Order: sequence, then structure tokens, then C-alpha cells
Amino acid sequence: MRRPLVAGNWKMFKKIAEAVEMVATLKPLVAGSTTVDIVVCPVFTSLHAVAQALKGSNIEVGAQNCYPKESGAYTGEVAPQMLLDAGCAWTIIGHSERREYFKENDEFLNEKLKYALATGLKVMFCIGETLAERQGGKMNEVLKRQLTGGLQGLTEADFGRMSIAYEPVWAIGTGLTATPDQAEEAHAFVRSVVRAQFGETVADALRIQYGGSVKPENAAELMAKPNVDGALVGGAALKADSFAAIVNAAG
Ligand code: 13P
Repeated sequence: MRRPLVAGNWKMFKKIAEAVEMVATLKPLVAGSTTVDIVVCPVFTSLHAVAQALKGSNIEVGAQNCYPKESGAYTGEVAPQMLLDAGCAWTIIGHSERREYFKENDEFLNEKLKYALATGLKVMFCIGETLAERQGGKMNEVLKRQLTGGLQGLTEADFGRMSIAYEPVWAIGTGLTATPDQAEEAHAFVRSVVRAQFGETVADALRIQYGGSVKPENAAELMAKPNVDGALVGGAALKADSFAAIVNAAG
């Protein structure tokens, strides 16, 4: 049985005071949850304050991105070591918004993934096809390419500290959720690719989160599917009550 992982990707929302207030409200709403791993991913400027506010709770903190160097002349970037220092346990890598707006490719994402894992961060690694790719019958091809390039060189131990988030680009922020059957089909395919490349043990243990317009109303149905092991939530993670409802739907 894989333990569900439910994470909130806050994207570029919330200043420090709003972020701290949100997690103060969230904490008691999910305090009784003992069967789900819970993560919130605020913007960089709020990470330390949120991590302090969540000390001793059952909610971990994640960043939304990182750079694969310890320090140096990389203006505007943040090292995984600095994220650990700020109180993060996790980082997201490979979100479609980073792939699209910041032109991050599979090779660079693979470098980031390996580096972040080596520093001790846990990683949610995002993949997903666009609407044009899906309609053109290229979904499996795209997912396989993102997995093959993105996961290259990982060891079995690495997989124990990461999840994959399947986020169809057409479902992100659009209100168009994949149906539970569409999510299950894609997740089963992702697991089969991982099985073929890294073996049965890795594939069976790997958590695959679904992301894309997850809400309290559809979360339970999506996460009831055998290959859907949690959620990566955008808009509905910005409010404590809706995020808590999704967490509580997971376990
Ligand atoms: P929405 O839940 O707002 O569709 O965003 C999903 C997402 O991109 C999470 O990383």
C-alpha cells in the first residue's frame, strides 16, 4: 500500500503574513491526519516563516524550484542546500510552467533532480502532456520522453525519496480535470515505463500524484483509483478549508 502524498503548490501567490496565516488555519484542520503525507509549497520569500510556523506539525514544507549548484554567481537562483537551511524537506521540479515559460528541458531537469536528491531534499517531479499532444495521440510518447530524460541515472534509493506528479497541462488552472479513468490510464502508463526502466520494486513503491484542477469535489474519486497516490493541488490549495478537505479525502 502506498501512503498518499497531498501537496499544495501555491505558485506565485501569498505574501509572508498571508502564508503564515494560511498554515496557522490549516494546521488544526489536518492535525488528525495520520495516513497522508502533507506538504505546502509557498514562494521562496515565505519558506522560512512557514517552516517555523509548521515546526512540530504533520505538514512539511517544499519549494517550487531550485538550482543544481551549492552556491556561486547564479543571479536569481536558489540552492537546494539553502532550501534545507530555510526548513524545506521537499522541492517541486519540472512543473509545466517552468518547462513552458522558463524553457527548462528534460536534460536540465534531470540534472536538477539528481542534484536536489543528492543534497537530501525530497522531490516531486512533474510531467504531463499538452492538449495538442493528447489530441494528436502523442500522450504516451511525451510522457515516456519526459520520464526517460528526466529520470536518467537515478538509483533505487533515489526513488525512495521522490514522487512523480502527473499534471496534464490542459487540466492546470482550467477547471478541466482529467476524469478518474483518464488519470488512472496515464498513471498506469507512467508506472509501466518506470517498471520497464527501473524494475518492479521501484515501480510498485513509487507514488504518482495527480495534478490539474483537483478540488474537494473531485479529489476522493481521483485518489480512489489504484494508481493515483495523492494530489498536487494548485488553486484549491490556497485556502485552508479546501486544501484540508482534499487531504482528508486522501486518507
Ligand atoms: P490547479 O490545481 O490550479 O489546476 O494547478 C495544478 C498545478 O499546477 C499544481 O502544480
